[in-house]
Amino acid sequence: MADFNYNPVTAQAHANIALIKYWGKRSVDLNLPAVGSISLTLDALKTTTTLQFDENLNEDELQLDYRKVTGKPLDRVTEFLDIAAETSNRPRAKIVTKNSFPTGAGLASSASGFAALAVAADKALNLNHSKEELSRLARKGSGSAARSIYGGFAEMKCGSSFDDDKDDYAIPLHDESHWDLRLLIAVTSTDKKDVGSTEGMVRTAKTSSFYQGWVENQQADLEEMRSALHAKNFEKVGELTEHSCFKMHGLAMSGRPPLLYWNAATTETIHTVWNLRKKGIAAFVTIDAGPQVKILCQPDRAELIKQAVLSVNGVKNIIETKPGPEASIVQSEIVKN
Ligand code: DP6
Repeated sequence: MADFNYNPVTAQAHANIALIKYWGKRSVDLNLPAVGSISLTLDALKTTTTLQFDENLNEDELQLDYRKVTGKPLDRVTEFLDIAAETSNRPRAKIVTKNSFPTGAGLASSASGFAALAVAADKALNLNHSKEELSRLARKGSGSAARSIYGGFAEMKCGSSFDDDKDDYAIPLHDESHWDLRLLIAVTSTDKKDVGSTEGMVRTAKTSSFYQGWVENQQADLEEMRSALHAKNFEKVGELTEHSCFKMHGLAMSGRPPLLYWNAATTETIHTVWNLRKKGIAAFVTIDAGPQVKILCQPDRAELIKQAVLSVNGVKNIIETKPGPEASIVQSEIVKN
């Protein structure tokens, strides 16, 4: 039985962008990935979460950006805390969470959310988990959250067992001081997406004839990305990033029914970036299970690229970020309700 700490505990974690994408699960029940992935943690996208166990509560209470949340998102948090505490027979908790990025910008990330919650739960349950254990715990909330435990560049490993997760956790590759890059996030829609990543992955695995090839080729992309990051070879990192993104989206599009996460502005932004590249400006796109386009570039090119992309019809705004730090406990930043 966990040793409950009834004081409020606050943790923060940053979202991440996958340069080599995670798409597909070898176990839905245990949330085990079918492929490894490599990501960059993002400084500007931060989640701060305060967790407090309270013996007087009858159910968990969740507040996100000053609004009470019920239904599925709350159930997911309750299930996660049961897993962290290794029992559902536990005191209920109040969870108050806040994102540094605008709510409804289509960026609300389960990665920073579950990484922050994992770190807060570890402290509130006096678990003293290692980084590896924290990452494994965060993964149970959301696969991409496992990578947000670390700053800079991280790799999510993929085990081979179907009934245990001993090899399914992320490891750090390089911290945020390794390489000063920029990621520009072009927001093209603030609508809620029709098909979330979990459902999208399950559909793809079940129905796409490309799926096996995707799984088999991932190892080569991971190896190349590791060396390119180590060598700080920007052209190579960019080329691999785009390759993994388009392979993932091609795979999603080949599902039945097909999954197309893009809108017209997404496509227009891709072409704008490619046109800049023809003019010698190094910039590369990546896209997750949504219509926003993320552009990887070097700091001295960020302003020019931003201006070009802002002129695309349908691009609402651009969020600029540099590599961000690891998830941590924060003393000063208690989120008030
Ligand atoms: C396209 O981590 O959201 O962003 O494990 O089901 O919660 P679950 O999926 P999630 O999927 C992320 C998919 C992606 C690619 C990536 O981040 O690697």
